[in-house]
Amino acid sequence: MKVTIIGTGYVGLTTAVVLAYLNHDVAAVDKDNNKLNLLHTGESPIHEPGIQDLIDNVGHTIRFTSRFDEVVPDAELIMIAVGTPPKKSGEADTRHVEDAAKEVAQFCDPDKHYTLVIKSTVPIGTNRRVAEVVNEVFSQRKIQGDVSITSNPEFLQEGLALQGAFYPDRIVVGANSDNAIEALRRLYKPILEQTFDPPSWLPRPPSYHLPPMMTTDPNSAEMIKYAANTFLALKISFINEIAGLCEEVEADVTEVARGIGLDSRIGHRFLRAGLGWGGSCYPKDTAALLGVAAQAGYEMPITAAARTVNFQQRKRIVEKLRAVLKTLHGKRIGILGLAFKPNTDDIREAPSLDIIRQLVAEGAKVTVHDPIAMPNTHKLLHDIQINFVEDVYQLSYNADALVLVTEWELYHRLELRKLAKQMKTPILIDGRNVFSPQEARSAGFHYIGIGR
Ligand SMILES: NC(=O)c1ccc[n+]([C@@H]2O[C@H](COP(=O)([O-])OP(=O)(O)OC[C@H]3O[C@@H](n4cnc5c(N)ncnc54)[C@H](O)[C@@H]3O)[C@@H](O)[C@H]2O)c1
Repeated sequence: MKVTIIGTGYVGLTTAVVLAYLNHDVAAVDKDNNKLNLLHTGESPIHEPGIQDLIDNVGHTIRFTSRFDEVVPDAELIMIAVGTPPKKSGEADTRHVEDAAKEVAQFCDPDKHYTLVIKSTVPIGTNRRVAEVVNEVFSQRKIQGDVSITSNPEFLQEGLALQGAFYPDRIVVGANSDNAIEALRRLYKPILEQTFDPPSWLPRPPSYHLPPMMTTDPNSAEMIKYAANTFLALKISFINEIAGLCEEVEADVTEVARGIGLDSRIGHRFLRAGLGWGGSCYPKDTAALLGVAAQAGYEMPITAAARTVNFQQRKRIVEKLRAVLKTLHGKRIGILGLAFKPNTDDIREAPSLDIIRQLVAEGAKVTVHDPIAMPNTHKLLHDIQINFVEDVYQLSYNADALVLVTEWELYHRLELRKLAKQMKTPILIDGRNVFSPQEARSAGFHYIGIGR
């Protein structure tokens, strides 16, 4: 199929390379010339495992451009995958989605039918708003235009984006027309039937079952995305709330999570106590859902509480440090990990940012390490004084404490004895419960985890 994708961020670029790999004829539009320049030289503007391999393999077949007029008229299916950042009020800002829809409508051929797919995460009812925007442009152009608006929310997880794209749990399509559903079914046929040859580095999991394509109305599809993210976010906040109580009553939250996760109704996933969630989705999407609810005059205390618990975790880590060091002023603190989760360079809403700002505000001298996300952090925290080190062991020289914030695989294999030896006071705050307390203690650390 001839597909045009608008936005080449984490979602748009992943979708573009995967659809190209599946032999679709793909074009991708972005207004960010820095991203386009990198893509024109065959380089990925984001860090995502496997994405560079796919760009090397099929990138040359994708037309990356800033010009809608070059890639809209001929397309059969157009996907909007632009950002929907939070407004100050927390509500999702759909301006980029509407701008993209206007540009599309500007260049649609009046004699052709198009399926316009909203892949961005958007407040419930945006599909109607996009239809209005498109029709307004058509009436300015004095044309009829023929566009079916469809909601196709994206469920990828950064760090595992390609796995999620090739082997999704489900595909959700919200549409009012059979034509649009048929177009999406054709687009995803190789995935729905798993007829493609997997990339050698991403084999089909042996236990993988063919994914269902669930079709529903557009509003429900939009709600499915918010409800899914909110449910996952509150599962994590729930175990973090239990972790806090475990600390008070001398129970171990990792044991508790193991015990409750064995219940098949609960399951093990998303039950790891730690510093809580960050990133470009859960903070923004839970706030946006509360915004949708407020507009509808409806209260959502569970969602609100999940957010409160989550952001408290960041403060609690600093409280733990303060309690053990007495004062943070002048103390040297090493931060292990900046990205909001491993295997991504994304630092949007990362817990590390709040923790670092709080430590610096209290007079601590902060040194940080991350295998991938240091350049992005440097850009964002340019207003405060922190040291970046390339060698993770440099974090511990003369340090008063180390705080593990992101559970990169690299950190699991650290030589704890070597780190502890170099420190002024060997204190390790394990914000993700990565280390065994016994091993950390026998390596010489005063070990403090979360809920254990
Ligand atoms: N990142 C994730 O893990 C994830 C997962 C699921 C859903 N989503 C949702 O998908 C959407 C995109 O997220 P992302 O993380 O890929 O965002 P992103 O910020 O990484 O990328 C968005 C891209 O859209 C481009 N853009 C914005 N307006 C444009 C316009 N008018 N024309 C052309 N290009 C334009 C930007 O330049 C940018 O490159 C959001 O709604 C997000 O909530 C994200």
